[in-house]
Amino acid sequence: MHIDIITTLPKLVESPFSDSILKRAQAKGIVTVNVIDLRQYATNKHRTTDDYAFGGGAGMVMMIEPIDNCIADLKSKREYDDIIYMSPDGQRLNQALANELSLKKNLILLCGHYKGVDERVREHLITREISIGDYVLSGGELAAAVVADAVIRLIPGVLSDETSALSDSFQDDLIAPPVYTRPAEYKGWKVPDVLLSGHATKIDEWRHEQSLERTRQRRPELLK
Ligand code: ADE
Repeated sequence: MHIDIITTLPKLVESPFSDSILKRAQAKGIVTVNVIDLRQYATNKHRTTDDYAFGGGAGMVMMIEPIDNCIADLKSKREYDDIIYMSPDGQRLNQALANELSLKKNLILLCGHYKGVDERVREHLITREISIGDYVLSGGELAAAVVADAVIRLIPGVLSDETSALSDSFQDDLIAPPVYTRPAEYKGWKVPDVLLSGHATKIDEWRHEQSLERTRQRRPELLK
């Protein structure tokens, strides 16, 4: 998979990709992530990418021309499955959407800022909009990093234990069961006996029951 992230604040997006699982996924050659500074595509002499809103009002609007030039340049090198604008009014990210995106080959994530982008970008240049939740961030950068993380970890070979993404919360519409590690007893707080029993079937059954119980208590709407 290849992901291009278009932003006016590259530093804000880069760090999640330079550590841990996302770094290793790139080192293994499973995914390439390219952060593009939109300013490179600015056409005016001050290299600005935003301007005042027609009709007045507070807040700057990101201009269409640098975004169009940037996307055209990227499209001249690759064919994209989706060109995604990060926006609080987009489709809400969930595990099903992350699964769907993990099957794509090439994606662009466009990060908005200020009052947003010129509406013509949304009408003509992008293929979908994604939100990471019903709250407004200062820009799309952190949201793009969240989407990329949720998607990349699902690609086969990224996680060392292939089953570990399958046992995530939400993967089967259930919350993951509790986990424990050594010591088996700490300050009198004990690990459930079944986990120390060595009985694989009983452990699986216990985990499944715990998942169901947790989901019933915390997110009953997932069980309907
Ligand atoms: N940009 C600003 N807020 C956002 C959100 N909640 N999701 C995606 N992009 C955003």
